Amino acid sequence: MTLPNKDQMQAWWMPFTANRAFKDNPRFYVAAEGMYMTMGDGRQILDTNAGLWCCNAGHGRKEIADAVHAQLLEMDYGNPFTYGHPKGFELANRLVADIAPEGLNRVFFTNSGSESVDTALKIARQYWRLKGQGTKTAFVARVKAYHGVNWGGVSLAGLTGNRKSFGQGLEADFLRHTLLPENAFSKGLPKQGAELAHELSDIIAMRDASNIAAVIVEPMAGAGGVIVPPEGYLQKLREICDQHNILLIFDEVIAAYGRVGAATMAGKVGVTPDMITTAKGLTNGAVPMGAVFCKQEIYDTFVNTGDASAVPEFLHGYTYSAHPVACAAALATLDIYKNEKLFEHANTISQYWEEGVHSLKGLPGVKDIRNYGLLAGIDLPAGIAGKVAAKTLEMGVTVRPAGDTIVMSPPLIIQKEHIDTIVNTLQEAIPAAQK
Ligand SMILES: Cc1ncc(COP(=O)(O)O)c(C=O)c1O
Repeated sequence: MTLPNKDQMQAWWMPFTANRAFKDNPRFYVAAEGMYMTMGDGRQILDTNAGLWCCNAGHGRKEIADAVHAQLLEMDYGNPFTYGHPKGFELANRLVADIAPEGLNRVFFTNSGSESVDTALKIARQYWRLKGQGTKTAFVARVKAYHGVNWGGVSLAGLTGNRKSFGQGLEADFLRHTLLPENAFSKGLPKQGAELAHELSDIIAMRDASNIAAVIVEPMAGAGGVIVPPEGYLQKLREICDQHNILLIFDEVIAAYGRVGAATMAGKVGVTPDMITTAKGLTNGAVPMGAVFCKQEIYDTFVNTGDASAVPEFLHGYTYSAHPVACAAALATLDIYKNEKLFEHANTISQYWEEGVHSLKGLPGVKDIRNYGLLAGIDLPAGIAGKVAAKTLEMGVTVRPAGDTIVMSPPLIIQKEHIDTIVNTLQEAIPAAQK
């Protein structure tokens, strides 16, 4: 494959990329299979990030490609406004049966995590209007949260860099993040910090529940640096939301579809929110698609108890909602997850993963290591994570710097030998990057 030269790297304004610098130090991927990406220079690179937290079944899955091809030939597209198609219903049923926790049995399709988040926020606001409580419009989010890049998600972002250039957004208050120094190097769920959830009561006392539509959190935070919730924290948020009649939204765009060793983090920890936002692993990253899971009562409030003449009940949707090609990709992906028991595999091998990543404790500069399911975050001194990532790339392994944290989320097909390679590479790269 011919790579573009500097003159040909003009028109593409690249996302979340230092565009000016890219041309002088371009990095290209040209192919992908299984656990590996192929770089522009032909090198095979072990992918510890499943693309961008999304290719959970590994790269280049033929079953998905075949399903997409067949669907394109059968029906490339169908208007989803006022028309349905069989695969949309089939996929929604499968998601309710196999992925969503019990009680979340309605699915609204989107094309990305950002769209799933904005969809859930709009559902929350309209829900309270329909209930005659239209003053409930504000949201509570959390410091270090990432909820995508659309207006709702940006307003609720807890990462300064992602919001500071864009001015006023939605009204929001922020809970503290749950990274506590006393939990440093905890394995799995940290023991201390469930009481941080009580801050929600303080925010409610200040704002008043009559003004708050929903609380949104990543139950297992990814982009903020793999922040694992303290034991009991999510349960407490649920209790406080219930006490005050506030909706709870879990943003599981990263966590769902096996990443935490179960279909969802909600299911894994036994806390059922009112809505869950998902995307990424839904189609194994192969075709853009997202899905919001909602409680029946929310759907009923819109569809079965609202004013019957006010239709459509929810004036919201995308040209590509439930795109038939995306549905075909998702159904093939769910088959792979099930047939290969990938969520169970992720759960089992997460023990070896945990031991591997925690063996890096004691390396120079390593300030904290966190893990859960097939996720890990390694905190390093300021400015070092990017250098470590550059070094591992030289050595044949790609890891992702997120601020001062190295984050990893390998495909769920990972085997012990891959974990050994990742750990050995970091063992060498972390000190080398600080010399
Ligand atoms: C928790 C969370 N929410 C939302 C998003 C946004 O998803 P997308 O990039 O598909 O819009 C992401 C992306 O990483 C995410 O991690």
